Amino acid sequence: MEKFDKKTIDAKLAKGFPLEHRWHNRFHLEMPFGLINDPNGFAYHQGAYHIFYQWNPLGCEHKNKCWAHVKTRDFIHYTLPELSLWPDDVHDKDGCYSGCGTSENGELRVLYTCNRKEDGVRIPAQRFGTLQADGSVRKEEIIIPDHPEKITGHFRDPFLFTRHGRRYLIIGAQREEEEKGTALIYEEVAGKWKNLGEIHTRLGDFGYMWECPNLLQFGSYDVMIFCPQGLPARAYDRQNIYQAGYIAGHLSLDSMDMMQHTKFQELDRGFDFYAPQVFEHEGRHLLLGWMGMPDKDADYPSKEHGWMYSLTMPRELRLRQGHIYSRPARELRDLRVKESVIELEHSMVSSLCQPLFAGSEILLTLELGEAKIVSCVLHYGLEKLVFSYDREQQTMTIDRDGMKNGGRGKRIFKLFVDQKLSLQLFVDKAAVEAFFQHGEEVASLLVFPEKNIQPELEIHSDCPLENIVGNIWELDSYKFEFRA
Ligand code: FRU
Repeated sequence: MEKFDKKTIDAKLAKGFPLEHRWHNRFHLEMPFGLINDPNGFAYHQGAYHIFYQWNPLGCEHKNKCWAHVKTRDFIHYTLPELSLWPDDVHDKDGCYSGCGTSENGELRVLYTCNRKEDGVRIPAQRFGTLQADGSVRKEEIIIPDHPEKITGHFRDPFLFTRHGRRYLIIGAQREEEEKGTALIYEEVAGKWKNLGEIHTRLGDFGYMWECPNLLQFGSYDVMIFCPQGLPARAYDRQNIYQAGYIAGHLSLDSMDMMQHTKFQELDRGFDFYAPQVFEHEGRHLLLGWMGMPDKDADYPSKEHGWMYSLTMPRELRLRQGHIYSRPARELRDLRVKESVIELEHSMVSSLCQPLFAGSEILLTLELGEAKIVSCVLHYGLEKLVFSYDREQQTMTIDRDGMKNGGRGKRIFKLFVDQKLSLQLFVDKAAVEAFFQHGEEVASLLVFPEKNIQPELEIHSDCPLENIVGNIWELDSYKFEFRA
């Protein structure tokens, strides 16, 4: 039998929904078995968003990389995931790695990296494919057969973009000289793809590999999102093993310079966020990220139950003064089923306790008054996840040390709050996404509570808070429908 038999795998998938394990999330995309990672091929085609993602259907190791596929019109109702692209020829025998999607001439095309190793040597090829009616991707032309000169075999994750009616792609790479991370741009000229060379930035020595670049336009700004590997941690940032962030500036495709660009900023401050893909549609920049981290498998105990990782909820990005603000996509408001209002105006409370649901959204404004330290705690019985704001240090700390299973530790980042701390928390079974100060910062993380109980929210502060206002909603689950 073939290793990747679409019919057998799809049938096994269909049986896996609805997802049952207590750590399975309700409003985050994930799989009943296998390991998922990067979102791929994010596109809008014939009235629906198409989302693909890396998937090993055969186990929880980073190998056998295929693409899974779902469709949605509203980010709430999804088709059942299907196997869409899998390694089955000489070019991609070691994996169908990450890439992008595009709707053109009535077809949904994808562009991905064929991963191939011969005697330990990588021969990465970039290849197009077209989604067919049976849900599989037909493999088509290889446009870049191998890595170019002066670049190592770490050459992958193509992302298509257009400028002035011309088509380009940006691709993650590693320079041969000193093994440094970089990104290359190619231009389509008369049906061929011409290497324009490296994008020049002022970042200097910036890690040993850049994965998953995206090149976007926000008004008159160009934004390059990418995932540098090999940056050392600092006091208030870069605390994960690998980063996912961006620079904003002005890209000249003549000189290949990213001019007047900002410093590198992280897109997310949580423990579990990597390899995001952003798709521009009808004036929106929609982001999906992988909730996971390479080379940190021990942090994810769902592995023992045969599955690993999730995607984030879709986010909408805005660029203001060189900084990206992230908000949950507005469609997610339709997940709200039951609402309770919190209004403790002028009540000078220093503690509040609220039971939550199996899935919850918490939207809070805390008027700090004289308080210097304020904490929002999610209690899972005796376990806890703590968000704690220190006003004097102007830092937010996320503390997972109170959890027994899975990754622990702290993430600390700068957050500037004057009087009002604004928090929006999405609390799923294992996934938590937190938006601070109306999306100025975001944090995605996973917790694996020991007991299958609904968490409680506690807020406390060192001095009474002036006001606590907000809402808590019970959130419904994503719906996966069988195909007619
Ligand atoms: C990022 C990444 C990509 C690669 C893919 C393989 O997480 O390593 O660079 O294409 O995952 O699954």
